[in-house]
Amino acid sequence: MNKTEVISAGAPDLGEQLKKLGKIIRAGGLVAFPTETVYGLGGNGLDPEAAKKIYAAKGRPSDNPLILHVSGMEDVEKLVKNIEPLERKLMEDFWPGPLTLVFPKKDIVPKETSGGLDTVAIRCPALKVTRDWIRECGVPIAGPSANRSGRPSPTTAEAVLHDMDGRIEAIIDAGPTDIGLESTIVCARDNHIVIYRPGGITEEMLAPYAPVTIDKGIASPDAHPLAPGMKYRHYAPTAPLTVYTGNPEEVVKSILHFADLSDKKYGFFVSDETAAKLPRDAVVYRWGHRDNQKELAHNLFDGLLYFNSHPVDEIIGEGTDSHGLGLAIMNRLTKASGYHIIIKGTQS
Ligand code: TXA
Ligand code: MG
Repeated sequence: MNKTEVISAGAPDLGEQLKKLGKIIRAGGLVAFPTETVYGLGGNGLDPEAAKKIYAAKGRPSDNPLILHVSGMEDVEKLVKNIEPLERKLMEDFWPGPLTLVFPKKDIVPKETSGGLDTVAIRCPALKVTRDWIRECGVPIAGPSANRSGRPSPTTAEAVLHDMDGRIEAIIDAGPTDIGLESTIVCARDNHIVIYRPGGITEEMLAPYAPVTIDKGIASPDAHPLAPGMKYRHYAPTAPLTVYTGNPEEVVKSILHFADLSDKKYGFFVSDETAAKLPRDAVVYRWGHRDNQKELAHNLFDGLLYFNSHPVDEIIGEGTDSHGLGLAIMNRLTKASGYHIIIKGTQS
């Protein structure tokens, strides 16, 4: 394939460009697209061949189902067997936005897209340019995160190009994504919400709608999560990562200890507050203010990718507490570290 074409979301002839990118999708091609969470790798969600191309471009196991992206609630009915009142309410209140719902699928959704499951995950992204483009395509867009399988999800067009240049036809560049973490995935059937993957829509935000439980399968390396993709090693930076979390003072003490060691080259993935205490010559990614979880979520994958261009032997990371957005942040860090999380003292 030729070089991947980059189309700016600010292009003066954007309407024409989106038409052209719609044609590429209908012809079976792949286009990476921006969303409020991370960049996606899009193909025709009703075309089994497009699904196969997506799996090949990502190097992803084909039992890991793809999320379908739609331009509005009106697109859902033709893809799913039925919509329950709770699901309708959640779509009305959280769409467009970072909430993905899992429904029983109609046959029109190919097994290749749903990873062999009888269900299909659907979401409506918040960025208007992306919804306009999906409408232009005239089909739902199957879209996993646009990274090579196992790597951190891309939050910029540059990160997409790094993994996908020459593997896909084009990319729509709308600058860095807002949230920085993938959508929350839920099943909201029988008046009960089960979180399959924590994300920008938190447990606290969903609680007023119905009782909420979190899939226990996401917390342990041996369990069988309800979202198949949650079982794979994910988000891995180029060097091994260990994350310290718990009592802030003890966490900082443990991290600073590594700055004194000279057995190997350490890199530090830490809050601005901890970074200020590290030696000047240390390799440090300043993650953001310790108490600002929005900022931490926004910078998370960028920080994991930082060590691609600043190579070290081992990364020492700082965690955050698991409330609100912290649940999603710690879920990703747990995966990125291969469950190498060390809890110091009691969490504040
Ligand atoms: O924010 C997001 O959701 C991003 C952007 C691009 O929309 N997409 C994304 O897709 O994160 P991906 O493919 O990287 O992750 C999708 C997750 C996987 O863990 C997959 O197993 C799960 O969703 N999933 C998809 N369909 C499912 C289904 N029918 N039942 C359970 N889990 C499903
Ligand atoms: Mg992904």
